[in-house]
Amino acid sequence: MSEITTVLTEFSKTFNTYLEQCFPLPQGAEKRVIEAMKYSVMNGGKRLRPFLMCECAALFGVKHDVSFPAAAALEMLHSYSLIHDDLPAMDNDDLRRGKPTCHKQFDEATAILAGDGLLTYAFQFLSNALEIRPEIRLTLVQLLSDAAGAFGGMVAGQTLDLYATPTGNKAADEDIIARLEAMKTGRLLRYAVEAGAVLGQAPLDVRQTLVKYSRLIGQAFQIADDILDREGEQHIVGKTLHKDDSQNKFTYVAYYGIEPARQKAQDLIKSAIAELQTFGPEADNLRALAQYIIDRKY
Ligand code: IPE
Ligand code: IPE
Ligand code: MG
Ligand code: MG
Ligand code: MG
Repeated sequence: MSEITTVLTEFSKTFNTYLEQCFPLPQGAEKRVIEAMKYSVMNGGKRLRPFLMCECAALFGVKHDVSFPAAAALEMLHSYSLIHDDLPAMDNDDLRRGKPTCHKQFDEATAILAGDGLLTYAFQFLSNALEIRPEIRLTLVQLLSDAAGAFGGMVAGQTLDLYATPTGNKAADEDIIARLEAMKTGRLLRYAVEAGAVLGQAPLDVRQTLVKYSRLIGQAFQIADDILDREGEQHIVGKTLHKDDSQNKFTYVAYYGIEPARQKAQDLIKSAIAELQTFGPEADNLRALAQYIIDRKY
């Protein structure tokens, strides 16, 4: 294991313990939806967004007791996006993180409700996080709703993913792919990083530098995901492969081919690491994580 995968594994262990206790199971019929929410959240994600947030916050001395609640809210929201992404009406996937998707494990109606429940709980949990100062909490709620929503956020990106088609004009197509990646995947990754800076009350120029880093890793992240869909190993990726081609997805890989995509992802990561030049060794995990984003096997 590389050093960053060890660091990430250790982080995930502590974070998962925290996350698990955010989901007390009530009695009665409503227990089912919370079981489905918990099933999807605790289902073995890499926890990259929480890690990014906590690492960025730690640059400014913020400890886990303050960053974990914000990171948990983000992971809830991310898990909702995956549940809905997998639904028959969207990508129609049976496998997520090596296990049955939420609608396969439960049923479609429960999966829709579990997604709704996680999206709502993310904001409920974040707005009630007394560990975070009220004015910082409000900023986080604003930024998270921007990142997740239909006005330039993840929902907008998912809409492009489903309905955008190539125009035949290279510059226009390039722009559509970049916007699609930036919104459907990039916005939550950017939020992870920016929220870390906000938690740490970072000076504006430093926050902007981190946002630049996040935009670059965000695009590389989706290209890496698309490469894994094309040529990963299914038992490691934990998702059904070759879905993007079979569903005619408008991806960088489909448009330019696998080698240009690999090169693009490498260039983006090189630029992302270069953005961190003003930081010292305290940002080494962020540098290593950027590299991990394109080297990962799942
Ligand atoms: C998958 O995200 C969805 C995309 C944005 C491409 P991750 O690869 O971070 O998924 P988990 O959380 O580790 O399962
Ligand atoms: C999903 O993108 C991005 C989300 C907002 C959930 P994909 O559809 O490519 O993600 P996977 O491959 O199913 O994880
Ligand atoms: Mg999708
Ligand atoms: Mg999908
Ligand atoms: Mg994918």
